[in-house]
Amino acid sequence: MEFGILFLESTSLEFGILFLEFSISMSAFTENGFDNRVTRLFRIRYPIIQAGMIWASGWRLASAVSNAGGLGIIGAGSMYPDVLREHIQKCKEATDKPFAVNVPLLYPDIDKHIAIIIEEKVPIVFTSAGNPKTWTAKLKEQGIVVAHVVSSAKFAKKCQDAGVDAVVAEGFEAGGHNGREETTTLCLIPAVRDAITIPLIAAGGIATGRAMYAMMALGAEGVQMGSRFVATPEASSNAAFKEAVVAANEGDTIVTLKKLTPVRLIKNQFYQAVQDAENKGASVEELENLLGRARAKQGMFEGNIAEGELEIGQVSAIIKDIKPAGEVVNDVWNEFINTCHSPFMH
Ligand SMILES: Cc1cc2nc3c(=O)[nH]c(=O)nc-3n(C[C@H](O)[C@H](O)[C@H](O)COP(=O)(O)O)c2cc1C
Repeated sequence: MEFGILFLESTSLEFGILFLEFSISMSAFTENGFDNRVTRLFRIRYPIIQAGMIWASGWRLASAVSNAGGLGIIGAGSMYPDVLREHIQKCKEATDKPFAVNVPLLYPDIDKHIAIIIEEKVPIVFTSAGNPKTWTAKLKEQGIVVAHVVSSAKFAKKCQDAGVDAVVAEGFEAGGHNGREETTTLCLIPAVRDAITIPLIAAGGIATGRAMYAMMALGAEGVQMGSRFVATPEASSNAAFKEAVVAANEGDTIVTLKKLTPVRLIKNQFYQAVQDAENKGASVEELENLLGRARAKQGMFEGNIAEGELEIGQVSAIIKDIKPAGEVVNDVWNEFINTCHSPFMH
């Protein structure tokens, strides 16, 4: 409306063009949500994706998000094959909407996971932490839509060359395992946009409709949110971990274990032990021993807040409540629409 008034009052060509472009971009809004390459690819209402997350995103969270019009993702990275099958089957019972499975490609039982995904006819797979060439062709032969997660423009291009359908570009703010380049989402999205022509989804530091708007302005066609969805009743994470996420403030997360696989987590006793070991010049092997085999489960699933690994993003500093996943989707979507109508502070 404000743009309309501006247009009527102005006789200049620029305002005419501005108004026309604005009308075109607003036409992406439909009765059913939003029409762009990401919503068409995944057959969803809103280009809002709930990230696949170990010890957080099981069938309850994924189906709640899909039922709300976003795309829910089951995080297979913390599941044995039979557990994954159970989550997929329960998700299919809980929603008739599309959902996805995230498969970190370093997972030791990857062949079994892929076989189950194919047998259970999962429509969409988000692969991460590995080479997109390895599984994309096999999944696509089965008619599965494939997206791959990257943290650099260089790897985004490799994904496109490998034939994936969409790229998730995840910046340094993000919770969980992180790129070595340490590129922030603000710098990463425009660089990836220039590098690829296939659909692009932004991740890392996004928890609000205003942030979604910013990402879309930078060239993303959808957003993937992880941390925001941890703080929901449907996330399978321990209640103590969810409370720690809500309590986290600016500066409470950090990327550590850079000698192994860099990971963003909440600073706690475990983090301090890693720091102390690194300050004393700990070797990779010593750090691996310190990390052990079940740190993430201990922290995020069992709720050992002092000694466990608590993966979460910088955006936890502005997450102040635990609310249903469907409400998260609606709130982000409504704030996005409002921001489209009135993007600037006055
Ligand atoms: C608790 C937690 C677990 C995660 N586990 C995975 C995982 O298993 N696979 C993966 O590709 N990314 C994982 N991530 C990263 C998310 O998929 C997502 O890209 C990231 O959370 C986005 O940034 P945000 O946390 O700022 O929203 C995890 C993130 C969190 C917070």
